[in-house]
Amino acid sequence: MNAPIMVLNTNAERDQGKRAQFGNIAAAKAVADIVRTTLGPRSMLKMILDPMGGIVMTNDGNAILREIDVNHPAAKSMIELSRTQDEEVGDGTTSVIILAGEMLQVAEPFLEKKMHPRTIVSAYNRALIDAEEIMKSIAISLDTSDKEAMLGMIRSTIGTKFMSSYGDLICNLALEAVLIVKEDITVDADESKASSLAVADIDAYAQDRGHITMDTKRFARVERIPGGQMSDSYVLDGVIINKDVLHPKMRRHITNPRVICLDIPMEYNKGESQTNIEISKEADFEAYLELEEQYIKRFCASLIKLKPDVVVTEKGCSDLAQHYLMKAGVTVLRRMRKTDNARLARCSGATIGHRVELLTDKDVGTKCGEYLVKQIANETFSFFHKCREPKACSIVLRGGSKDVLQEMDRNLQDAMCVTRNILLNPKVLPGGGATEMELSVRLSENADAIDGVMAYPYRAVADALEIIPRTLIQNCGQQPIKVLTELRAKHALKGGKGAHFGVDGKEGGIVDMNEYGVWEPFVVKLQTIKTAIESASMLLRIDDVVSGLRNRDE
Ligand SMILES: Nc1ncnc2c1ncn2[C@@H]1O[C@H](COP(=O)(O)OP(=O)(O)OP(=O)(O)O)[C@@H](O)[C@H]1O
Ligand SMILES: [Mg+2]
Repeated sequence: MNAPIMVLNTNAERDQGKRAQFGNIAAAKAVADIVRTTLGPRSMLKMILDPMGGIVMTNDGNAILREIDVNHPAAKSMIELSRTQDEEVGDGTTSVIILAGEMLQVAEPFLEKKMHPRTIVSAYNRALIDAEEIMKSIAISLDTSDKEAMLGMIRSTIGTKFMSSYGDLICNLALEAVLIVKEDITVDADESKASSLAVADIDAYAQDRGHITMDTKRFARVERIPGGQMSDSYVLDGVIINKDVLHPKMRRHITNPRVICLDIPMEYNKGESQTNIEISKEADFEAYLELEEQYIKRFCASLIKLKPDVVVTEKGCSDLAQHYLMKAGVTVLRRMRKTDNARLARCSGATIGHRVELLTDKDVGTKCGEYLVKQIANETFSFFHKCREPKACSIVLRGGSKDVLQEMDRNLQDAMCVTRNILLNPKVLPGGGATEMELSVRLSENADAIDGVMAYPYRAVADALEIIPRTLIQNCGQQPIKVLTELRAKHALKGGKGAHFGVDGKEGGIVDMNEYGVWEPFVVKLQTIKTAIESASMLLRIDDVVSGLRNRDE
């Protein structure tokens, strides 16, 4: 008779049906359990050894999960979630994992009862749509010009972090840095598009995009310099670059420097591919060298014509060029990092040049107030500071050790992201689990009105949302059941009177967020809940896990 037909390679591992589904749920739960204790103001830190032997100490969900090595594909996908959350909004990376894990866990009983995953998924999606509406109805607007309110807002983010005792310092640094790099789109618009628009359209275009750019990743660089006091950290009104001048005789202190930024080598360009030169007379060789020299001389002459005080380049600078420029009293920095160059150009007002002959007076940066070479803790730094309206900045972080500085940097990034989110969308939601509890109560009210089997998974979403307040209570060592029941009762009050009640994350009691003052950006919360539900839906729809070919030797 016929031999059995093998479709899949026999080395492939395969999990099907129930086994795959429950396997995925277990994996997601395992990942959520790792980060559960790091949520909220009473959170624990994790210490992770990386393969190189370095240590990471943090309670940032993304930073923890990034370091650990997992095997199960569903666990990998969960970890990806927190990375997305980090890139999109910068905060809420722990919440999203906990929530997604819980959303999957509550689906388990339905799968056991043989409910089709599609039904569960549609109920989840319906709950998500309703949740967004409810969140819109309880969000309130924040006045972004009110510095105190902004700082309070950032403080709630930092409050859950290791650095919370230095909270005010970090909040101020974050706010200051973000305000420096903040820019209206009309200036920095997608240029090809913006330039083809009439002036009147540009406003509409900007409004349409509704978007001010705040690229903190590119334009606010954190310099971590071990040593000193944490309180010595500051935001510079300009940039610092980890370089000394090229030649010891060049000037190290210039007021109101004229800065030229280049991204070309200041030396004779050697042929890229193989170049053959046939020389028959000695004179020809001399002429050849002469040509190179002439080129450098012309190059420097065009630069010097613009009367720069400082010339920086991303590439090298030959001895000859260095000589000419030094004689003209120009300070040179070479082999700059591309990003450093971009920041310097932005805060000094220079344009990065590619051809020296084409540079004009307009391309020279004149907005820096001072150029200074200074030593901090054994390292030499070039300061370009006291800039008039800098559009980029360096943040100097000082502190005891490398690990502390790294955690401080991560906390600062969170704070900057939250600041940016608020400036882009000044809507906030109550924190401390208040939003989740409100959603939970309102969704379970909605569930009563739903006919058919969909009602059960819909209600399960409502139950799952309670995990955030519950974890916050657990993490400060209280019994969740009593507090949660009380909190639920508050939120069940008619007319949304209790919508702003949440958990006091330090004591575990119930507080009104209007007084307690823990608020979170609307975009962060929305993104958290959206990502959690969507990814849970996705994992639920998997009924077959095939792992590709195994190596035969294994
Ligand atoms: N003082 C507080 N009292 C109660 N809850 C708080 C307080 N401060 C923050 N929270 C709550 O803690 C949660 C945030 O915790 P945490 O910052 O540890 O995690 P995350 O923001 O999800 O992830 P991460 O910051 O690691 O990216 C939010 O739900 C927030 O409302
Ligand atoms: Mg946080």
